[in-house]
Amino acid sequence: MKKVLVLMGGTSEEREVSLKSGQAVVKALLERGYQVESLDFNPRVLSDIEKIKPDVVFIALHGKNGEDGTVQGYLDLLGIPYTGSGVAASAIGMDKILTKKILCYEGLPTAEFEIIHKRDFNSTTFAAKSLIERFGLPIVVKPPTQGSSVGTSIVRNENDLLKAIELALTFGDEVLLERFIAGTELTVAVIGNHEPIVLPIIEITAQNEYYDYESKYTPGMSAHIIPARIDNEARELIEKITIKAYLALKCRGFSRIDFILDQNGDPYILEVNTIPGMTATSLIPDAGRAAGISFPELVEKFLIMAEEE
Ligand SMILES: Nc1ncnc2c1ncn2[C@@H]1O[C@H](COP(=O)(O)OP(=O)(O)O)[C@@H](O)[C@H]1O
Ligand SMILES: [Mg+2]
Repeated sequence: MKKVLVLMGGTSEEREVSLKSGQAVVKALLERGYQVESLDFNPRVLSDIEKIKPDVVFIALHGKNGEDGTVQGYLDLLGIPYTGSGVAASAIGMDKILTKKILCYEGLPTAEFEIIHKRDFNSTTFAAKSLIERFGLPIVVKPPTQGSSVGTSIVRNENDLLKAIELALTFGDEVLLERFIAGTELTVAVIGNHEPIVLPIIEITAQNEYYDYESKYTPGMSAHIIPARIDNEARELIEKITIKAYLALKCRGFSRIDFILDQNGDPYILEVNTIPGMTATSLIPDAGRAAGISFPELVEKFLIMAEEE
């Protein structure tokens, strides 16, 4: 019987979500008959992984020190197979700025953006007006390496722009500013290694002004509509873009790519989530169910792909 180690928890802002993902994964793997151990992960328990000697590791960590390639690199050094993307795709997916740069090279659509670095930022000389002239309002301000909308602001008037940038800078050295795309929020789950397939596209509606932390994790604050209420032309276009982005970023196993489809029918990629939420009510399991794949089956697929070419 295969011994699977599930890594969960971790030290990022998304610790609580990861604990829930990990518990759901453990339950699913037990149901499928695996021998399962789990670790509430932090750098001090690294040596425990070697002691446990798992056949394969299921990484149910979100955010820094888990989704960003660090744990993946350690497991590569140990020669232990693990679920999901490798070092490069994980590191790039964790950084929305690097992701967007690659999407641009591939000619894939993403909202127009600007980058501010902490060392160049001076709140008294900052040219808010020219940025607003270029992007209009609202402007989206994000810390590029956070998830779950943590530190993100949708700025609706000039006076709030500085505060939003300063908030984003508390999470790291760079800030990503984006043109706000009004439209339908969609997310597309992808599974596979070399020949990935997309699961049914999910439309997300949120009670709050956007899909913020509260909407994501409070039952009833958002809804998943599957299949998304979009026409066939938009669906086919989004599926094509999704596969191209997945392969361009060298994702493996699975990922979930977030989009906004604007009123003209033009899709924009917001980001690529290499380890999306995996609780029984998360988006990727919902997409799986819509494709006739139960949550335990989906989790097992992820595990099997870890050891495939
Ligand atoms: N350019 C944008 N235009 C409109 N809404 C946006 C834009 N960027 C982000 N959002 C909103 O913020 C949410 C979180 O942004 P996202 O880039 O997916 O980061 P994360 O989910 O990692 O926090 C999105 O789901 C969406 O509701
Ligand atoms: Mg997102």
